[in-house]
Amino acid sequence: MTIRGSHITGWGTALPDQVVTNADFEARLDTSDTWITERTGIKERRFGGTTASLAAEAGKMALESAGLLPSDIELLILSTTTPDLTTPATSSIVQNTIGTRGGAFDLNAACAGFVYAMVVAGGMVKMGANRVLVIGSDTLSKITDQNDRSTAVLFGDGAGAIVVELDPTEDKILSYDLGVDGSAVPILYCNHGGYMTMEGREVFKKAVRVMVESSRNVLESAKLTSDDIALVVPHQANLRIIEAANQRLGIPMDKTAIVLDKTGNTSSASIPLALADAAEKGKLKEGDNVLFCGFGAGMTWSSAVVRWSKS
Ligand code: UT7
Repeated sequence: MTIRGSHITGWGTALPDQVVTNADFEARLDTSDTWITERTGIKERRFGGTTASLAAEAGKMALESAGLLPSDIELLILSTTTPDLTTPATSSIVQNTIGTRGGAFDLNAACAGFVYAMVVAGGMVKMGANRVLVIGSDTLSKITDQNDRSTAVLFGDGAGAIVVELDPTEDKILSYDLGVDGSAVPILYCNHGGYMTMEGREVFKKAVRVMVESSRNVLESAKLTSDDIALVVPHQANLRIIEAANQRLGIPMDKTAIVLDKTGNTSSASIPLALADAAEKGKLKEGDNVLFCGFGAGMTWSSAVVRWSKS
């Protein structure tokens, strides 16, 4: 029987050249490498580029890795919280740089946006699209007050992308869970033209709770247990958040993709950056069950279980 399932067939990444280390913050703010490392797990992050330029670089790499041409793409979805312009959508600039066909739009679900976009891509494949380029790109350094130690040390810039293609044999997106609790807007937000404002401790507590609940939801829908998961690809905000969620889910840290020590929190880019890193290090085998889990301002959350199958 032919079905309109989806699978991930390629991935790409882009990070700006400027490396900002904890020592750089230590030199000009009342903070220390020890505090940042112990409280967050972050050692360095990258600053620079535009959301569109990073997105286009990651998107082109993803096409190459999938063995596709830009004209093969029928839809481009760009997950971002930091669009380059108010209008048009940043995906228009990315479309023009890469040369994709079909529609393009931005999606904003904060740091949960990439998994939202991947799930929407799977839905669009069901509706007839054969190849969708999904990119997560953010330049959070632009909306972070670099003199506020409580946020400055956390965020970085970057992009990651995947290609979602038709799989006529099986839907490799086994299950998904998308959610939002709009009553939590005041604990993490950024006004137009302003800087990110965050009640860190509140976000931390809620993040652990939603990651655990949402992960349990997708495991149950996929009829799997945490033992069946070969790799977790969580949103890279804080190592302690990931450790706390993993512990409650019974998933060991060695089955977890981590890049936040090198990237900081890159919002929409964090999950595809971590996925690409794991793939390049050979941590993903054909048939592996991969648990994606994101959370962010809104408060949004998004999880999915995907069976890894590039071919
Ligand atoms: O993508 C989603 C976005 N955000 C997140 O996921 C962030 C979630 N929250 C967190 O990751 C953590 O809450 C933080 C890393 C932001 C903070 O860690 P914490 O362990 O929750 O610390 P805290 O906010 O309770 O602050 C503890 C102390 C405070 O000092 P007092 O009041 O105890 O004297 C802060 O002023 O640490 C102080 N502090 C710092 N000290 C040195 C806050 N930032 C810094 C800093 N360096 N950079």
